[in-house]
Amino acid sequence: MSQERIELAVVVGSVRQERFGPVVARWIADQAARHGGFEVDVIDLADAELPLELPAVPPAMDPNPPRPSGMADLTRRLDAADAFVVVTPDYNRSFPAALKAAIDWHFTQWDGKAIGFVGYSGASGGLLAIEALRQVFSELNAHTVRNYVSFPRYYLLFDERGELREPDEPAGAAKAMLDQLHWWARALTEARVAA
Ligand SMILES: Cc1cc2nc3c(=O)[nH]c(=O)nc-3n(C[C@H](O)[C@H](O)[C@H](O)COP(=O)(O)O)c2cc1C
Repeated sequence: MSQERIELAVVVGSVRQERFGPVVARWIADQAARHGGFEVDVIDLADAELPLELPAVPPAMDPNPPRPSGMADLTRRLDAADAFVVVTPDYNRSFPAALKAAIDWHFTQWDGKAIGFVGYSGASGGLLAIEALRQVFSELNAHTVRNYVSFPRYYLLFDERGELREPDEPAGAAKAMLDQLHWWARALTEARVAA
């Protein structure tokens, strides 16, 4: 596989106090840096202003509406990315509301780009959030890759320093997902440039 470097944004999808998301995001950002095919930017949605009240006109009619000033950095970094890894827990069998707000406030930023997932939670390991996100991103003409990483009962898998007790299997799952993401991102980036 060509190691042409892809601009990858790792998105931390949970914003609550005492959240675990940043630990998982750090881990996958490290895996992506070791992979060698990516320039990695970690985007924490907790740093963005993300009101639930959306613009008056739907994004298909006005893809770049006026946005709050506290969202500008997020928008610029989503724009710059050619691929995403969304890090998400399950919240009531789906993904966090802050993540939905970040998705809905944007449109062209997702269009024609490749998306992978890392999920974590209790028994369901983020898989219910991931499956819900696949539907959402298909509406935005993004491509979600088949492979993913899931951490069911993550609190048993990570130690108190935030390190995986048995890192080899998750590292293999991350490599498989990142290989697919790199392949799709390269193909889609070329196609977007040619369009
Ligand atoms: C509102 C809410 C709903 C949750 N729903 C689920 C769930 O449906 N399935 C599950 O396995 N864990 C569920 N959990 C447990 C979370 O996956 C766990 O608290 C995890 O740490 C949340 O990620 P965060 O710490 O990054 O916010 C829920 C937690 C919250 C706060």
